[in-house]
Amino acid sequence: MKKVLFILLSICFFKCENKSKKISAAVVSARLEASRVGVEIMKKGGNAFDAMVATDLALAVCYPNAGNIGGGGFLVYRSKNGEIGSLDFREKAPSNSHEKMFLNSQGNVIKYKSTLGGLSVGVPGTIAGLFEVHDKLCSMPFEDLIQPAINLARNGFIVTENQAKSLNSYQKDFISLNGEETFYAGKFSKGDKIVNYNIAKTLEEIKLYGKDGFYKGETAEKIIQTIKSSGGIMTLEDLENYNAVWREPLSFKYKNLKIHSMGLPSSGGICLAQILSMIEPYNISQYSPQSNEAVQIIVESERRSFADRSKFLGDPDFNNVPVDLLLDKSYLKKRMSSFSFNNATPSRDLNPGNIIWQESDQTTHYSIIDLEGNAVSVTTTLNGNYGSKLFVEEGGFFLNNEMDDFSIKPGEANMYGLVGGEINKVAPNKRMLSSMTPTIVEENGELALILGSPGGSSIITSVLQVILNVFEFNMSIDEAINAPRFHHQWMPEYIDLEPNTFTAKKIEELRLKGYQIDRKRDRLIGRVDAIRISSDFGIIPSADNRGDDAEATITDK
Ligand code: DON
Repeated sequence: MKKVLFILLSICFFKCENKSKKISAAVVSARLEASRVGVEIMKKGGNAFDAMVATDLALAVCYPNAGNIGGGGFLVYRSKNGEIGSLDFREKAPSNSHEKMFLNSQGNVIKYKSTLGGLSVGVPGTIAGLFEVHDKLCSMPFEDLIQPAINLARNGFIVTENQAKSLNSYQKDFISLNGEETFYAGKFSKGDKIVNYNIAKTLEEIKLYGKDGFYKGETAEKIIQTIKSSGGIMTLEDLENYNAVWREPLSFKYKNLKIHSMGLPSSGGICLAQILSMIEPYNISQYSPQSNEAVQIIVESERRSFADRSKFLGDPDFNNVPVDLLLDKSYLKKRMSSFSFNNATPSRDLNPGNIIWQESDQTTHYSIIDLEGNAVSVTTTLNGNYGSKLFVEEGGFFLNNEMDDFSIKPGEANMYGLVGGEINKVAPNKRMLSSMTPTIVEENGELALILGSPGGSSIITSVLQVILNVFEFNMSIDEAINAPRFHHQWMPEYIDLEPNTFTAKKIEELRLKGYQIDRKRDRLIGRVDAIRISSDFGIIPSADNRGDDAEATITDK
């Protein structure tokens, strides 16, 4: 009865949300300005891919903690004809990298070497990625897609309260790495306007010379100079040799859904597929979303998948990864055979699965749908907030610290607490393993959901929970996104919680079963920006309340 009432309320909520206007295209991103840029492009006749390029570049200007030209990311798309594709524009290790580059002579990790400054920077992939998308899928000239970002940089963007807090909290790092005069050295307040002429100049170079405006010539020289002066090893050749790669998306079935997500070098798709396959036999909708049973099934599946991640996942160009074996239903069923509702499975007793194979590793997400039904899901990052904190002063942009996503010492945790093994160790020109999970869901063959999230390792579990909330627990997309989240990643042992996720009683019950629970007062997990599509309700964009995220739309008159 309760469930029926819940479904009826959800339907009403969906309908009320949409009753005044029918949305025909949308962009949902971390900043309203960027979402609007994407929508304006579509109003001028551009498709979702044109909007993607323009939105991405706008984020590089007005969301400098994660939007970037100095980082990288992944894109998953579904064209209006149902064709699926994915692009890897992940950073690569510079060619002079080596497996001991973050260790001292005793073989211990040198603190901050992989997270701050020159050595932490991977060869940026974003601009190469945008040109790949443009050459293959766009309909408008690149110059028209980059112009709004140039305008935004010149005219300035307004600092939000969250942004002021964030910039101010890194002020010390900005100054210690880049000097007192660095562009972001000041104290910022809500309502300030930031005008960044230097990034406008860089974008002009790219507008004029294409990809070479970033990977060669003046901009490239500025990047290498900045990195070298901070102890890095990247060379001009590394920039020149960077390439983005079209890869087979990771597609799998879950009940009546077909889910398309990012394959290696992101672990996102494989882990999402593993976790959902482990959950599937339990018919989880029989439980309420926060019941002990549902939490246990989700946590235990996550734990087992992250254990596998640590051993088996890394750059597919460097390793022969046993993807089919990892996704095999009977293997995953066996993985769950040690689970019982009575007790937690302690992570220390749980090894990566027993697979034998021939061996030869701060972010932002946005979702777009256009008037014709082309769908684009993109997650892009500098890794940490403002990446390495190293700022290419004359270029007006931050460089990533993606090298920390390698297992800088196999077995040692990275900044997201993830442990990795030999397979994800540093090597020249290799891509570091990611958790980014840009995803597109089809229900009964029709486009149903475009989503993704920032959040390091919790990206995978944030995407997972929104999918379960929508398709198993019948929540509206807003409810699904704004519901409190929890996360488990095998190591460390505990369940990570947002405030108010579980009642004190539930925490006690789970503790009695052997679960360790970590509850930090202001912990937020992920920020999912999604678009729900259904033949009943049409297009419903939804931006996560946890940030300044916002949608822009085109509506029918
Ligand atoms: O690729 C990855 O998995 C990480 N570099 C993502 C970092 C991230 O999501 C930070 N955002 N909060």
